[in-house]
Amino acid sequence: MAANKKMLILPGDGIGPEAMRQVRRVVEWFDKRRAVRFDIKEGLVGAASLAKHDTPITDAVMRDALETDAVLFGAVGDPKWDNVAFDKKPERAILRLRKEMGLFANLRPATVFPELVAASTLKPEVVSGLDIMILRELTGGVYFGEPRGITTLPDGTKRGVDTQVYTTPEIERIARVAFELARKRTNKVCSVEKANVMHTGVLWRETVAKLHAAEYKDVQLSHMYADNCAMQLVRNPKQFDVIVTDNLFGDMLSDLASMLTGSLGMLPSASLGAPDATGRRKALYEPIHGSAPDIAGKDLANPLATLLSFAMLLRYSFDLADDAALIEQAARKVLAKGVRTADIMQDGATKVSTTGMGDAVLKELDTLAA
Ligand code: IPM
Ligand code: MG
Repeated sequence: MAANKKMLILPGDGIGPEAMRQVRRVVEWFDKRRAVRFDIKEGLVGAASLAKHDTPITDAVMRDALETDAVLFGAVGDPKWDNVAFDKKPERAILRLRKEMGLFANLRPATVFPELVAASTLKPEVVSGLDIMILRELTGGVYFGEPRGITTLPDGTKRGVDTQVYTTPEIERIARVAFELARKRTNKVCSVEKANVMHTGVLWRETVAKLHAAEYKDVQLSHMYADNCAMQLVRNPKQFDVIVTDNLFGDMLSDLASMLTGSLGMLPSASLGAPDATGRRKALYEPIHGSAPDIAGKDLANPLATLLSFAMLLRYSFDLADDAALIEQAARKVLAKGVRTADIMQDGATKVSTTGMGDAVLKELDTLAA
């Protein structure tokens, strides 16, 4: 029997909790069938925490996150809190977790499931077989740079400021992750910035090129401006393997890339910190999709992105590649049988609810493990 693994589950808002409920069923399945035991804590984040504690994330939940082996996160965001002060927004919860856990490396794979090629708005030949990785810097840049804020000028008009800032160590450590990832894939890195207009872009390009020349000459490196990258992702996404970019460009390009695959509802992500003395990294796993308040609570959401995030958790935090693959295989089988939630519905397929998708996955897991 493997030792218990500590996991903190933060379902959050909107469709977060209902998607997470299906993942809990799979966790229980692992508990019973695969002798993989978890010590699970659950906590409130986002609007759910605001309603009860008047803050998007309490210090107690933050402490749990710092102490656990891995965090599985649902989604945060609720239109009810659209017009409140910045520190009262549900989104602060995920930003604080990223910052205080030091999760600087955000892995956002965009993979096209063969069963879902038709769900993409792009032509099948452009996207079929697509497997790229957007590596987004997650704790720096304009998301956190100082000064920031809105001030009132003497004439009564207002001035808003955000600051884009990067240091060489911040760029180096994310570039290093990119090169290491590429070596395990098809060995190509495209580094993306706006060196034509931004000083941080110039420094980014220089720093990545220098590290490449010093330690990663075996990896094929190219540089691209962010606007061109957006265009190239739609024109010919298969030219890319690993794309490494800053926090804001990564936010936008990963949303763009996710749509190549047909559904935001399918894509997981992992956010990792630096390895400690024992080689362990702090880690948080979350679906790329948001809280989708418009469909929340209706049993309509696709739970697969959250489930596949749990698979990433097994692979990256606990070295359980076989168990991760089992979940991924079960999801593929369900799709191959034409089982679809509304977001990926196709002609001739069987439409199921969130719970129905959970049922289908569990059934496949039973078959695969039999
Ligand atoms: C994401 C989201 C977040 C971000 C929001 C919820 C703060 O869009 O994870 O991509 O902008 O980073
Ligand atoms: Mg985003």
